[in-house]
Amino acid sequence: MLLTGAMESIENRLPGHVGIIMDGNGRWAQSKGFHRVAGHRRGAKTVDTVVTACRKKGVRFLTLYAFSSQNWTRPSLEVKALMELLAEYVRLERDKIMANNIRLMAIGEIDQLPDSVRQALMGLINESKNNTGMTLCLALSYGGQEEILDAVKKICARSVAGELAPDDISKTEFENALWSGFLGPVDLMIRTSGELRLSNFLLWSCAYAEFYFSDRMWPEFDETDLNKAFDAYANRNRRYGAVGK
Ligand code: IPE
Ligand code: IPE
Ligand code: MG
Repeated sequence: MLLTGAMESIENRLPGHVGIIMDGNGRWAQSKGFHRVAGHRRGAKTVDTVVTACRKKGVRFLTLYAFSSQNWTRPSLEVKALMELLAEYVRLERDKIMANNIRLMAIGEIDQLPDSVRQALMGLINESKNNTGMTLCLALSYGGQEEILDAVKKICARSVAGELAPDDISKTEFENALWSGFLGPVDLMIRTSGELRLSNFLLWSCAYAEFYFSDRMWPEFDETDLNKAFDAYANRNRRYGAVGK
């Protein structure tokens, strides 16, 4: 009995859905006298480390903010480099993703991505679709407001077509219309680089997320830093508006 209880409580303290705002690539590179793109390249290594570590810990859903809807406003050379790195990541990580039984998914305005990136991405999403381990979701050309607006449009269209009465628009219906609905609520949201903002990430599903901010830049964030975030989460008292235990 005691063992079951102890195991249950350990499990409860593991976040089921982790979101990460991978920030600070540019500043890391510039502080070393490199071009910002070198920071993005180095940041891809951290992605590999963090994905492997989360898989090992037993995280069910990991959503990584890789490129926001607003990041298109960056200099075209940087955008181009980011897109190339993304396609390269998908190519290089393919074997590992399959070997680790990881299901790859993506959320965002995927049709905005260059053809080469979209094809590489969709190929691995399709290939890994029956994997039953962790779901790795990449947020690409993603914006939380854009996502909510898109869901509103879908719901309105159904309503106008007479398929869904306004009174029947429940949280579940709304979540089903969101790109990220299948991921469920975020338990732990991590942001690196010392910035204390959400920058338009997973606005709906962060309603009761626990936040963890690290001063480390994404390229230097490692497994020890990740463990600190998980330890902090394990000690939080999530009340959801009720009276705590
Ligand atoms: C995060 O690092 C990567 C993306 C947003 C694509 P940044 O490129 O934002 O790095 P900083 O914040 O300028 O240092
Ligand atoms: C958020 O970082 C987007 C990603 C990590 C992909 P930004 O660097 O774009 O956010 P701001 O501009 O600091 O808010
Ligand atoms: Mg940034």
